[in-house]
Amino acid sequence: MEFSAPPRDWRAWPQWLRETPGSNVLVLRAFLGVTFVVASLQKLANPAFFRASDPTGIEATMKSAQNFSPIGGLLGPAIHVATLVGVVIAFAELAVGLGTLLGFRARLAAGGGMVLSLMFFLTVSWSTTPYYYGADIVFFFAWTAIVLGGPGSFSVDAWLETRRTEALKATPTGKRPAVDRRAAVRKMGITAGLATFAAVFGGMTSAVGRLVSNSSGGGTASSATLAGGPGASPTTGGTGTTGPTGTTGSKGTPKGRRIGPASDVPVGSAAPFTYQGVSAYVVRPQQAQFVGFSRICTHEGCTVNYVHSTQQFLCPCHGSIYSALTGDVISGPAPLPLPKISIAEATDGQLYAN
Ligand code: FES
Repeated sequence: MEFSAPPRDWRAWPQWLRETPGSNVLVLRAFLGVTFVVASLQKLANPAFFRASDPTGIEATMKSAQNFSPIGGLLGPAIHVATLVGVVIAFAELAVGLGTLLGFRARLAAGGGMVLSLMFFLTVSWSTTPYYYGADIVFFFAWTAIVLGGPGSFSVDAWLETRRTEALKATPTGKRPAVDRRAAVRKMGITAGLATFAAVFGGMTSAVGRLVSNSSGGGTASSATLAGGPGASPTTGGTGTTGPTGTTGSKGTPKGRRIGPASDVPVGSAAPFTYQGVSAYVVRPQQAQFVGFSRICTHEGCTVNYVHSTQQFLCPCHGSIYSALTGDVISGPAPLPLPKISIAEATDGQLYAN
């Protein structure tokens, strides 16, 4: 690939860039590369991501995605090795990001980026509506520019190609030598160097993250499970006319659908259930008080998790936090509170959602 050195006069740079082959993907490469490296380092520096009990961790995210993802069935076996899956994803993102930034094996790296983006789209972003609000589908198609067109100039791939072409010109026959041992050794050296750099850098950030986490502590999720929890089908309740009108438990035969016994929700805890096909939580702040909320984040539709230590709902996708008492947004990008579901307790101790 032919390209000239940048001109001394910076005002001539736009013209130079226009005439330099492949420079049109430079900005895209920089953005995708930096984004994937940052995403990887954020995971590696956050031990909670790998912790099975953490509501923001990879295991909780996979379990949430199981409820709505079109590949939810495939997630089942993977959940048993969720921490390993998290480690593989983090290092794959790092390799993809570095390969793209350096332009080294860039088509392969971009192919890996497509696979990761597709996987994220089919899981955490799948419930996002409309579909173009989710970033992963956009990432998926952005990678195609590099897969199809290559990394262009200012890349290790282009430099290696130039070296190969020059070496060919220098041979008496102009043909590629049968085995270019020095080039092969050099390539292996570069590959090993990059892999070592990624491993060392990843290990260091993971260690730093662990230190930070140990000094600050971390919340854990704790929730009971109603008989009508996720995956279970709530039975239809009675048809009494004195249904619940608020979030405080009322005796009698409430309207709505029976979701399970109140005794399954200890005071100060929460239990998941399914209401009209939507994943939801019933929270029990006090002995006779039950409040229900949809678990679908109002930002991009991920499934929130209950955090017992803070009595909040936490979205694993972009970190929105909601009050588990009111459903109001406490922080994060979520634009609206979680939709409420009226919960009432019947005289027989069963809970009804309406
Ligand atoms: S989906 Fe983005 S914060 Fe919940």
